[in-house]
Amino acid sequence: MPEGSSVDAVGAWERYATQTRPRRSMNAAGARTWFNWTQHADHGPNETVLGAVRGRAVLELGSGSGANLAHLATLGAHCIGVDLAPSRENAARQKWGYLSNLDFRTADAVEFLDASSGSFDVVYSVFGATWFCDPGKLFHIVHKRLARGSVFAFSHAARGAVSTDRATVTAKALMRWDHPGGWWAQRLVEAGFGSVTHGIIPAPTPGTPGTLLVRAVAT
Ligand SMILES: C[S@@+](CC[C@H](N)C(=O)[O-])C[C@H]1O[C@@H](n2cnc3c(N)ncnc32)[C@H](O)[C@@H]1O
Repeated sequence: MPEGSSVDAVGAWERYATQTRPRRSMNAAGARTWFNWTQHADHGPNETVLGAVRGRAVLELGSGSGANLAHLATLGAHCIGVDLAPSRENAARQKWGYLSNLDFRTADAVEFLDASSGSFDVVYSVFGATWFCDPGKLFHIVHKRLARGSVFAFSHAARGAVSTDRATVTAKALMRWDHPGGWWAQRLVEAGFGSVTHGIIPAPTPGTPGTLLVRAVAT
């Protein structure tokens, strides 16, 4: 168990993992790897939200089984994924171990960043740790580890849309930071970020939840 993490949080995410189906091996366009910010297949913006990634040091917070990060590795990024649940590191290594420039660690996002001495060019999270960590702690440490001018971006379900989400049901011991884009923008500015943009990516079908996508630049 990562140091300082509650048994409940790790256990809850391990239970969640057992109920999560692996991503398809190919998307609608016939690609073997791809980037998806949303909870809907073949939908929304891709990795270009992050800017150029070739040769850049990229960190994903709450990387799950690593599919988004694997895509960035195929584009030439030097990637590290951090996830609280030990089984996610194993699953990601098994699936993507053949790719170079890609590593996975088991740790709490804040603790990993706190212990890290290096710096990153891009930090992001897709329905991951930014949704479950106190931004008062996480954003300052992300800012500290990001090179100036670098991108920090994250997505999660639009506010109020997740009451039936499996993470809520199976990991309900966990506090979810469920806020609108403007609230996140304020926290980011307080932590030293600028050029903050946020918006809802509408769902592909009416009546289904959209996705909040937030992007900021370390100043
Ligand atoms: C809903 S899943 C999303 C996984 C992946 N990003 C994806 O899009 O498939 C959330 C992930 O965040 C991880 N997580 C939750 N809290 C975390 C924390 N404090 N530090 C690191 N990872 C965390 C969980 O273990 C889980 O794998």
